[in-house]
Amino acid sequence: MRTQVCIIGGGPSGLLLSQLLHRQGIETVVLERQSRDYVLGRIRAGVLEWGSVAMMEEAGVGARMHREGFVHTGTYLSAQNRGFRIDFDGLIGKKVMVYGQTEVTRDLYAARDAMDGVIVHEASGVQPHDLDSDAPYVTYTKDGTEHRVDCDYVVGCDGFHGVSRKCIPASVLRTFERVYPFGWLGVLSETPPVDDELIYANHERGFALCSMRNERLSRYYIQAPVDDPLEKWTDDAFWDELRRRIPAEAAERLVTGPSIEKSIAPLRSFVAEPMRWGRLFLVGDAAHIVPPTGAKGLNLAFSDVHYLHKALVAQLNDNETEGIERYSETALARVWKATRFSWWMTTMLHRFPDQSGFDQRIQETELAYLESSVAARTALAENYVGLPF
Ligand code: FAD
Ligand code: DHB
Repeated sequence: MRTQVCIIGGGPSGLLLSQLLHRQGIETVVLERQSRDYVLGRIRAGVLEWGSVAMMEEAGVGARMHREGFVHTGTYLSAQNRGFRIDFDGLIGKKVMVYGQTEVTRDLYAARDAMDGVIVHEASGVQPHDLDSDAPYVTYTKDGTEHRVDCDYVVGCDGFHGVSRKCIPASVLRTFERVYPFGWLGVLSETPPVDDELIYANHERGFALCSMRNERLSRYYIQAPVDDPLEKWTDDAFWDELRRRIPAEAAERLVTGPSIEKSIAPLRSFVAEPMRWGRLFLVGDAAHIVPPTGAKGLNLAFSDVHYLHKALVAQLNDNETEGIERYSETALARVWKATRFSWWMTTMLHRFPDQSGFDQRIQETELAYLESSVAARTALAENYVGLPF
């Protein structure tokens, strides 16, 4: 098989890239290791920056998002069970869209199907070759048969554990990492959200976050040790702990019910440089991971897609090389800003095992400063709604 761009990974970034390129007349093949149901079963991000919303529109998949998603003009932060609001709209005239990654992915699959896009599911042993030549290709196995895709470019949209990043020689690749000493225990429940907006809570027992998917579906997280056995967290234990950490009036209103999903995710910051090697480009979690505090992971994957799809269109349709030459540098500048913001939000809102009395006071003061200073709230708002592309 021959195509122009072979995309490894059919998560949100791979599907969006494929869709945007196809709309510009560029052929793609997407190779995904898992089944479609498996990809759609993953409960992950929930908040879209307005730039991501615009990309969904550009990809022709904005209709259901605008119908069913929730536009949020602010969020709550809470310290010691007392909340205060960051008014994105009032401070900088911008907002975000609450629309789950599962729905984003579902809409992108529907759009790819409608355009007869090629997505190979359950492709095993995916392996890129000759990435530093003018004729790269990718091999994979499907139903016991080996296949080969010849292409102009290979794009690694295959997440943190994918094969693409590992193709960059160790002498070229530099990685930067911070692993946080805690995880997030997430619960999805068919209950009405506790508030119209999100609540990010700092508490002496640990961080908590109240989020949502729709009027009948809530998403909650609490900071927990990564190696805690899930059995320890019965639904009752989870709800009791969440109630302790959020503002008192929210705790009183909280409607609880059985969890329909429960999992613990580790938190890390990770950046790989460069994001291009020869004819290989890295996009999204394949190149960088942020801790989820601040909701940047999916949005950062989308901003990479923004830069790369423009660069590939310019190269393949108009023979302009500047975009692809500069892709890594341009994408990394924004990646590092989101990495900084996610690290800062994580540091400000979580309880660290070795937190000293000094660290504790600094954290309290950071939150008090945010509450009292328009400048500080503006900086948070500007980063939360997403820096410009
Ligand atoms: P992915 O979504 O990881 O997609 C990569 C795809 O590549 C997958 O479908 C995978 O099956 C496929 N793949 C992997 N290896 C191969 C291979 N060798 N061959 C073929 N295909 C392959 N962000 C938030 O903002 N908020 C959250 O609450 C949040 N929660 C998260 C929870 C978890 C457990 C994880 C892992 C991430 C979470 N994130 C969250 C981050 C966010 O979901 C990611 O940033 C986003 O999914 C990145 O999209 P992506 O397309 O780059 O990668
Ligand atoms: C959600 C996840 C986040 O990491 C975040 O910062 C906000 C919302 C969510 O899953 O809804």
